Amino acid sequence: MAFPITRHRRLRRTAAMRSIVRETRLSVDDFIYPLFVTHGENVKTEISSMPGVYQLSIDLLKAEIDAVAASGIQAVLLFGLPATKDAIGTSAFEDDGIVQQATRAIKEWAPNLLVVADTCLCEFTDHGHCGMIHHDPRTGNAEVDNDASLELLVKTAVSQAKAGADIIAPSNMMDGFVGAIREGLDAAGFEMVPIMSYSVKYASAYYGPFREAAQSAPQFGDRKSYQMDPANVREALREAESDVLEGADMLMVKPALAYMDVIRLMKEQYDLPLVAYNVSAEYSMVKAAAANGWIDERAIVLETLTGMKRAGADLIITYHALDAARWLKGE
Ligand code: PBG
Ligand code: ZN
Repeated sequence: MAFPITRHRRLRRTAAMRSIVRETRLSVDDFIYPLFVTHGENVKTEISSMPGVYQLSIDLLKAEIDAVAASGIQAVLLFGLPATKDAIGTSAFEDDGIVQQATRAIKEWAPNLLVVADTCLCEFTDHGHCGMIHHDPRTGNAEVDNDASLELLVKTAVSQAKAGADIIAPSNMMDGFVGAIREGLDAAGFEMVPIMSYSVKYASAYYGPFREAAQSAPQFGDRKSYQMDPANVREALREAESDVLEGADMLMVKPALAYMDVIRLMKEQYDLPLVAYNVSAEYSMVKAAAANGWIDERAIVLETLTGMKRAGADLIITYHALDAARWLKGE
Protein backbone atom coordinates (compact mmCIF):
# COMPACT_ATOMS: atom_id res chain seq x y z
CA MET A 1 0.00 0.00 0.00
CA ALA A 2 1.31 3.41 -0.84
CA PHE A 3 0.34 7.03 -0.59
CA PRO A 4 -2.39 8.29 -0.52
CA ILE A 5 -3.89 5.11 1.00
CA THR A 6 -1.00 4.98 3.44
CA ARG A 7 -0.47 8.10 5.50
CA HIS A 8 2.11 7.76 8.31
CA ARG A 9 1.03 11.04 9.80
CA ARG A 10 -2.38 9.59 10.85
CA LEU A 11 -0.74 8.07 13.93
CA ARG A 12 1.18 11.22 14.81
CA ARG A 13 -1.62 13.76 15.00
CA THR A 14 -2.22 14.07 18.72
CA ALA A 15 -0.38 13.38 21.92
CA ALA A 16 -2.83 10.59 22.80
CA MET A 17 -2.43 8.98 19.38
CA ARG A 18 1.37 9.11 19.65
CA SER A 19 1.19 7.70 23.13
CA ILE A 20 -0.78 4.58 22.20
CA VAL A 21 1.65 3.66 19.40
CA ARG A 22 4.83 4.50 21.34
CA GLU A 23 7.26 1.56 21.13
CA THR A 24 9.74 2.45 23.86
CA ARG A 25 8.97 3.80 27.28
CA LEU A 26 11.47 5.02 29.82
CA SER A 27 10.68 4.20 33.40
CA VAL A 28 12.31 5.08 36.68
CA ASP A 29 12.81 1.32 37.17
CA ASP A 30 15.31 1.40 34.31
CA PHE A 31 17.78 3.59 36.16
CA ILE A 32 20.80 2.80 38.31
CA TYR A 33 22.32 5.85 40.00
CA PRO A 34 26.11 5.96 40.60
CA LEU A 35 27.47 7.43 43.84
CA PHE A 36 31.00 8.30 44.99
CA VAL A 37 31.62 7.79 48.68
CA THR A 38 34.56 9.06 50.65
CA HIS A 39 35.95 9.06 54.20
CA GLY A 40 35.54 11.94 56.61
CA GLU A 41 32.62 14.01 57.78
CA ASN A 42 30.65 16.75 56.15
CA VAL A 43 32.39 16.19 52.81
CA LYS A 44 30.43 17.15 49.70
CA THR A 45 32.86 17.90 46.90
CA GLU A 46 31.43 18.59 43.47
CA ILE A 47 33.30 17.03 40.55
CA SER A 48 34.33 20.00 38.42
CA SER A 49 33.78 18.16 35.14
CA MET A 50 30.48 16.64 36.35
CA PRO A 51 28.23 19.39 37.74
CA GLY A 52 25.64 17.90 40.10
CA VAL A 53 27.81 14.87 40.94
CA TYR A 54 29.57 14.80 44.29
CA GLN A 55 32.03 12.90 46.40
CA LEU A 56 30.07 12.36 49.61
CA SER A 57 31.06 11.31 53.09
CA ILE A 58 28.76 8.75 54.67
CA ASP A 59 27.01 11.26 56.97
CA LEU A 60 25.95 13.35 53.96
CA LEU A 61 25.12 10.27 51.92
CA LYS A 62 21.95 9.85 53.98
CA ALA A 63 20.18 12.82 52.36
CA GLU A 64 21.16 11.59 48.89
CA ILE A 65 19.83 8.11 49.64
CA ASP A 66 16.56 9.58 50.94
CA ALA A 67 16.19 11.51 47.68
CA VAL A 68 16.98 8.41 45.62
CA ALA A 69 14.51 6.25 47.53
CA ALA A 70 11.80 8.93 47.26
CA SER A 71 12.39 9.21 43.50
CA GLY A 72 11.46 5.58 42.90
CA ILE A 73 14.93 4.62 41.66
CA GLN A 74 15.57 0.99 42.66
CA ALA A 75 19.35 0.75 42.65
CA VAL A 76 22.54 2.70 43.32
CA LEU A 77 26.03 1.83 42.09
CA LEU A 78 28.78 2.49 44.62
CA PHE A 79 32.31 3.71 43.97
CA GLY A 80 34.68 4.37 46.84
CA LEU A 81 37.57 6.73 47.51
CA PRO A 82 39.83 5.00 50.03
CA ALA A 83 41.94 6.67 52.74
CA THR A 84 45.07 4.90 51.55
CA LYS A 85 46.24 3.24 48.34
CA ASP A 86 48.86 0.55 47.84
CA ALA A 87 50.17 -1.78 45.16
CA ILE A 88 47.42 -4.39 45.57
CA GLY A 89 44.47 -2.18 46.50
CA THR A 90 44.12 -3.52 50.05
CA SER A 91 41.44 -0.95 50.94
CA ALA A 92 39.14 -2.52 48.35
CA PHE A 93 38.65 -5.69 50.38
CA GLU A 94 38.83 -4.53 54.00
CA ASP A 95 35.77 -5.15 56.16
CA ASP A 96 35.64 -1.47 57.06
CA GLY A 97 36.56 -0.25 53.57
CA ILE A 98 34.67 2.78 52.34
CA VAL A 99 32.37 0.86 49.99
CA GLN A 100 31.67 -1.74 52.68
CA GLN A 101 30.83 0.99 55.24
CA ALA A 102 28.59 2.84 52.80
CA THR A 103 26.84 -0.39 51.83
CA ARG A 104 26.02 -1.20 55.45
CA ALA A 105 24.74 2.32 56.04
CA ILE A 106 22.52 2.33 52.95
CA LYS A 107 21.06 -1.09 53.74
CA GLU A 108 20.17 0.23 57.18
CA TRP A 109 18.59 3.47 55.92
CA ALA A 110 16.82 2.02 52.90
CA PRO A 111 16.69 -1.79 53.10
CA ASN A 112 14.76 -2.12 49.84
CA LEU A 113 17.11 0.00 47.77
CA LEU A 114 19.47 -2.26 45.84
CA VAL A 115 23.16 -1.65 46.41
CA VAL A 116 25.30 -2.52 43.41
CA ALA A 117 29.00 -2.66 44.27
CA ASP A 118 31.53 -1.88 41.55
CA THR A 119 34.23 -4.50 41.90
CA CYS A 120 37.55 -3.15 40.72
CA LEU A 121 40.92 -2.16 42.12
CA CYS A 122 41.78 1.04 40.21
CA GLU A 123 40.41 3.37 42.88
CA PHE A 124 42.43 1.52 45.52
CA THR A 125 45.81 0.89 43.88
CA ASP A 126 48.58 3.50 44.00
CA HIS A 127 49.31 2.88 40.29
CA GLY A 128 45.64 3.26 39.34
CA HIS A 129 45.33 0.04 37.32
CA CYS A 130 42.42 -2.35 37.68
CA GLY A 131 44.64 -5.25 38.76
CA MET A 132 48.04 -5.76 40.35
CA ILE A 133 51.21 -5.09 38.38
CA HIS A 134 53.80 -7.66 37.45
CA HIS A 135 57.24 -6.30 36.64
CA ASP A 136 59.13 -8.50 34.22
CA PRO A 137 62.69 -8.64 35.59
CA ARG A 138 64.12 -9.38 32.13
CA THR A 139 62.48 -6.64 30.10
CA GLY A 140 61.63 -4.20 32.87
CA ASN A 141 58.09 -4.05 31.45
CA ALA A 142 55.15 -3.59 33.78
CA GLU A 143 52.00 -5.54 33.00
CA VAL A 144 48.70 -6.06 34.75
CA ASP A 145 48.89 -9.60 36.12
CA ASN A 146 45.61 -11.28 35.22
CA ASP A 147 45.52 -14.38 37.39
CA ALA A 148 47.05 -12.82 40.48
CA SER A 149 44.52 -9.99 40.24
CA LEU A 150 41.60 -12.44 40.22
CA GLU A 151 42.32 -13.45 43.79
CA LEU A 152 42.16 -9.82 44.96
CA LEU A 153 38.97 -9.20 43.03
CA VAL A 154 37.31 -12.26 44.55
CA LYS A 155 38.25 -11.01 48.04
CA THR A 156 36.78 -7.63 47.15
CA ALA A 157 33.52 -9.09 45.86
CA VAL A 158 33.12 -11.36 48.89
CA SER A 159 33.74 -8.49 51.32
CA GLN A 160 31.19 -6.37 49.43
CA ALA A 161 28.62 -9.17 49.63
CA LYS A 162 29.37 -9.60 53.34
CA ALA A 163 28.66 -5.91 53.86
CA GLY A 164 25.27 -6.44 52.25
CA ALA A 165 25.74 -5.58 48.57
CA ASP A 166 22.78 -6.92 46.59
CA ILE A 167 24.59 -7.11 43.24
CA ILE A 168 28.27 -7.47 42.42
CA ALA A 169 29.35 -5.50 39.36
CA PRO A 170 32.91 -6.35 38.33
CA SER A 171 34.40 -3.73 35.98
CA ASN A 172 38.02 -4.85 35.93
CA MET A 173 38.14 -6.67 32.56
CA MET A 174 40.50 -9.42 33.70
CA ASP A 175 39.99 -12.72 31.89
CA GLY A 176 38.02 -15.17 33.97
CA PHE A 177 36.74 -12.57 36.45
CA VAL A 178 33.12 -13.68 36.34
CA GLY A 179 33.93 -17.34 36.96
CA ALA A 180 36.39 -16.57 39.74
CA ILE A 181 33.98 -14.21 41.50
CA ARG A 182 31.05 -16.63 41.10
CA GLU A 183 33.09 -19.40 42.68
CA GLY A 184 34.28 -17.12 45.47
CA LEU A 185 30.79 -15.84 46.25
CA ASP A 186 29.36 -19.36 46.27
CA ALA A 187 32.10 -20.68 48.53
CA ALA A 188 31.38 -17.85 50.98
CA GLY A 189 27.65 -18.64 51.04
CA PHE A 190 26.53 -15.90 48.65
CA GLU A 191 25.18 -18.12 45.91
CA MET A 192 22.10 -15.90 45.59
CA VAL A 193 24.03 -12.67 44.96
CA PRO A 194 23.92 -11.92 41.22
CA ILE A 195 26.81 -10.71 39.07
CA MET A 196 26.25 -7.76 36.75
CA SER A 197 29.25 -8.14 34.50
CA TYR A 198 30.85 -5.21 32.72
CA SER A 199 31.17 -7.67 29.84
CA VAL A 200 31.85 -5.33 26.99
CA LYS A 201 33.90 -2.46 28.32
CA TYR A 202 35.86 -0.40 25.86
CA ALA A 203 39.14 1.45 26.51
CA SER A 204 37.37 4.78 26.19
CA ALA A 205 38.22 8.47 26.45
CA TYR A 206 34.67 8.89 27.76
CA TYR A 207 35.82 7.80 31.24
CA GLY A 208 37.90 10.97 31.74
CA PRO A 209 35.61 12.83 34.16
CA PHE A 210 34.96 9.63 36.15
CA ARG A 211 38.66 9.30 36.83
CA GLU A 212 38.57 12.75 38.41
CA ALA A 213 35.54 11.75 40.48
CA ALA A 214 36.99 8.42 41.60
CA GLN A 215 40.64 9.52 41.58
CA SER A 216 41.39 6.38 39.61
CA ALA A 217 43.47 7.50 36.62
CA PRO A 218 46.30 5.09 35.76
CA GLN A 219 49.63 6.57 36.89
CA PHE A 220 51.44 5.07 33.91
CA GLY A 221 50.34 3.65 30.58
CA ASP A 222 46.67 3.09 29.78
CA ARG A 223 44.02 0.37 30.06
CA LYS A 224 44.27 -0.88 26.48
CA SER A 225 45.80 -4.23 27.46
CA TYR A 226 42.62 -5.19 29.31
CA GLN A 227 39.75 -3.01 28.07
CA MET A 228 38.46 -3.48 24.52
CA ASP A 229 39.49 -1.68 21.36
CA PRO A 230 36.71 0.78 20.39
CA ALA A 231 37.01 -0.40 16.78
CA ASN A 232 35.86 -3.95 17.55
CA VAL A 233 32.41 -5.46 17.69
CA ARG A 234 32.88 -9.17 16.92
CA GLU A 235 35.25 -9.30 19.88
CA ALA A 236 32.32 -8.13 22.02
CA LEU A 237 30.60 -11.43 21.24
CA ARG A 238 33.59 -13.37 22.55
CA GLU A 239 33.75 -11.27 25.72
CA ALA A 240 30.05 -11.71 26.41
CA GLU A 241 30.11 -15.42 25.55
CA SER A 242 32.76 -16.17 28.15
CA ASP A 243 30.89 -14.17 30.80
CA VAL A 244 27.69 -16.08 30.08
CA LEU A 245 29.53 -19.40 30.34
CA GLU A 246 31.12 -18.28 33.61
CA GLY A 247 27.75 -17.50 35.16
CA ALA A 248 27.05 -13.80 34.63
CA ASP A 249 23.47 -12.84 35.54
CA MET A 250 23.43 -9.56 33.61
CA LEU A 251 25.57 -8.17 30.83
CA MET A 252 26.74 -4.61 30.28
CA VAL A 253 27.92 -2.48 27.41
CA LYS A 254 30.03 0.54 28.31
CA PRO A 255 30.14 3.35 27.19
CA ALA A 256 26.68 3.63 25.63
CA LEU A 257 26.40 6.53 23.20
CA ALA A 258 29.18 5.63 20.79
CA TYR A 259 28.32 1.91 21.09
CA MET A 260 24.61 1.70 20.32
CA ASP A 261 25.30 -0.97 17.68
CA VAL A 262 26.98 -3.11 20.33
CA ILE A 263 23.96 -2.72 22.63
CA ARG A 264 21.67 -3.85 19.80
CA LEU A 265 23.90 -6.82 19.00
CA MET A 266 24.07 -7.97 22.63
CA LYS A 267 20.30 -7.70 22.87
CA GLU A 268 19.88 -9.91 19.82
CA GLN A 269 22.46 -12.49 20.85
CA TYR A 270 21.79 -12.96 24.57
CA ASP A 271 18.69 -13.22 26.68
CA LEU A 272 20.24 -11.97 29.92
CA PRO A 273 19.16 -8.53 31.20
CA LEU A 274 21.27 -5.96 29.40
CA VAL A 275 22.71 -2.86 31.05
CA ALA A 276 24.03 0.22 29.25
CA TYR A 277 26.40 2.54 31.09
CA ASN A 278 25.77 6.17 30.14
CA VAL A 279 29.29 7.15 31.24
CA SER A 280 30.83 10.26 32.74
CA ALA A 281 31.88 12.17 29.61
CA GLU A 282 28.50 11.53 28.01
CA TYR A 283 27.07 13.31 31.05
CA SER A 284 29.69 16.08 31.04
CA MET A 285 29.11 16.94 27.39
CA VAL A 286 25.38 17.40 27.99
CA LYS A 287 25.95 19.44 31.15
CA ALA A 288 28.49 21.70 29.43
CA ALA A 289 26.25 22.39 26.46
CA ALA A 290 23.25 22.94 28.72
CA ALA A 291 25.21 25.37 30.93
CA ASN A 292 25.97 27.37 27.79
CA GLY A 293 22.31 27.47 26.89
CA TRP A 294 23.03 25.58 23.67
CA ILE A 295 20.67 22.66 24.28
CA ASP A 296 17.50 21.83 26.18
CA GLU A 297 18.95 19.56 28.89
CA ARG A 298 15.72 17.84 29.83
CA ALA A 299 14.73 17.03 26.24
CA ILE A 300 18.26 15.93 25.31
CA VAL A 301 18.62 13.63 28.32
CA LEU A 302 15.23 11.96 27.91
CA GLU A 303 15.83 11.49 24.17
CA THR A 304 19.29 10.01 24.77
CA LEU A 305 18.09 7.61 27.48
CA THR A 306 15.15 6.59 25.30
CA GLY A 307 17.61 5.92 22.48
CA MET A 308 19.67 3.64 24.71
CA LYS A 309 16.57 1.73 25.67
CA ARG A 310 15.38 1.53 22.07
CA ALA A 311 18.82 0.18 21.10
CA GLY A 312 18.22 -2.69 23.52
CA ALA A 313 19.21 -1.68 27.04
CA ASP A 314 16.95 -3.02 29.79
CA LEU A 315 18.71 -0.95 32.43
CA ILE A 316 20.72 2.26 32.24
CA ILE A 317 23.40 3.35 34.68
CA THR A 318 23.24 7.14 34.49
CA TYR A 319 24.31 10.23 36.44
CA HIS A 320 21.10 11.83 35.11
CA ALA A 321 18.95 9.31 37.00
CA LEU A 322 17.64 11.62 39.72
CA ASP A 323 16.79 14.40 37.26
CA ALA A 324 15.30 11.98 34.75
CA ALA A 325 13.15 10.37 37.46
CA ARG A 326 11.72 13.81 38.29
CA TRP A 327 11.18 14.68 34.64
CA LEU A 328 9.34 11.42 34.02
CA LYS A 329 6.95 12.37 36.81
CA GLY A 330 6.36 15.61 34.94
CA GLU A 331 8.11 17.75 37.56
C1 PBG B 1 36.65 1.38 37.01
C2 PBG B 1 35.51 2.05 36.32
C3 PBG B 1 35.56 3.08 35.36
C4 PBG B 1 34.26 3.45 35.12
C5 PBG B 1 33.43 2.62 35.89
N1 PBG B 1 34.23 1.75 36.61
C6 PBG B 1 36.70 3.80 34.77
C7 PBG B 1 37.77 3.13 34.05
O1 PBG B 1 37.68 1.96 33.68
O2 PBG B 1 38.77 3.80 33.87
C8 PBG B 1 33.84 4.55 34.19
C9 PBG B 1 32.53 5.17 34.48
C10 PBG B 1 32.29 6.48 33.85
O3 PBG B 1 33.09 7.02 33.06
O4 PBG B 1 31.23 7.02 34.17
N2 PBG B 1 37.06 0.20 36.46
ZN1 ZN C 1 39.11 -0.33 37.34
